[in-house]
Amino acid sequence: MLDIKKLGVIGLGKMGQAIVAGMLKKQVITPNQLMGCDASEDIRNRVSESLGIQMVSDAKKLASACDVLLLAVKPHHIKMVCDDIYDSVHPNQLVISVAAAISTAYMEKRLPKDVPVIRVMPNTPALINQGMSVLCQGKSVRKHHMALAMEMFEAVGETASVDEKMMDAVTAISGSGPAYMFLMLEAMADAGLKMGLPKPLATQLAAQTMLGSAKLVMESGEMPVKLKDDVTTPAGTTIEGLVEFENNGFRSTVINAVLKAKERSEQLSQND
Ligand SMILES: NC(=O)c1ccc[n+]([C@@H]2O[C@H](COP(=O)([O-])OP(=O)(O)OC[C@H]3O[C@@H](n4cnc5c(N)ncnc54)[C@H](OP(=O)(O)O)[C@@H]3O)[C@@H](O)[C@H]2O)c1
Repeated sequence: MLDIKKLGVIGLGKMGQAIVAGMLKKQVITPNQLMGCDASEDIRNRVSESLGIQMVSDAKKLASACDVLLLAVKPHHIKMVCDDIYDSVHPNQLVISVAAAISTAYMEKRLPKDVPVIRVMPNTPALINQGMSVLCQGKSVRKHHMALAMEMFEAVGETASVDEKMMDAVTAISGSGPAYMFLMLEAMADAGLKMGLPKPLATQLAAQTMLGSAKLVMESGEMPVKLKDDVTTPAGTTIEGLVEFENNGFRSTVINAVLKAKERSEQLSQND
């Protein structure tokens, strides 16, 4: 159970709701320890009904009632939220943001001096508690702040922490990564369709294969290259497919796509 009085969540869209629902499901927090704020009345009503937490429309009111604040609004709304809560925030609180490409320095500049700020890059599998959340810390963050934030995000999947200079690379791999995986799955399912398999079955084959392969990497501790070799017999079917991938530059396409995403994340982070 999180050792806090109250966690205030500002922005209860897809990501905010996923994190709150995950924490409630894992029982690391109780509804009484939560307060939410969203600009949309519809969301406020739906969330208070489905998750049983108190919802308010005034971020300032929430900020003065909570010791930890989680900002889950779109990146372009972060400045407005910081301005809104400025007078209600102090260094004994902790502010956590999941906004993509918003640095801790950007937040620190817009909040009172010495307020601890943690930045997190989660991803959409957090919606089913299978997320990958990577945390980095601002200059006033102490060990116990990071431990608390880690515990929160462990409720929606795996966690890791990095130096903030690695966050653009993290964004390009695990933040954008689900879209790349879905593209691969869609292409595999289309190939199944072309060979006459029904679409639901082709999608199931591709998705379970991706899931199982990812789990095999995580659970065996083996490098992907070794596991790939285990599937590939001399003059067999797999090597035919792999050669076609190589002929079309699959590996370099994937590497370059991730590097492009990193570059874009760097550009978007130039907002300080
Ligand atoms: N979804 C992802 O894959 C993903 C992955 C990693 C990180 N993130 C980050 O997570 C954050 C949230 O993304 P999301 O996909 O959950 O967005 P979302 O579904 O649009 O949710 C954001 C919510 O915040 C509300 N809001 C806007 N301004 C507000 C304010 N001043 N006070 C209170 N509530 C406010 C929005 O209301 P209105 O719609 O009425 O404006 C909306 O309900 C983003 O910063 C994003 O970069 C998302």
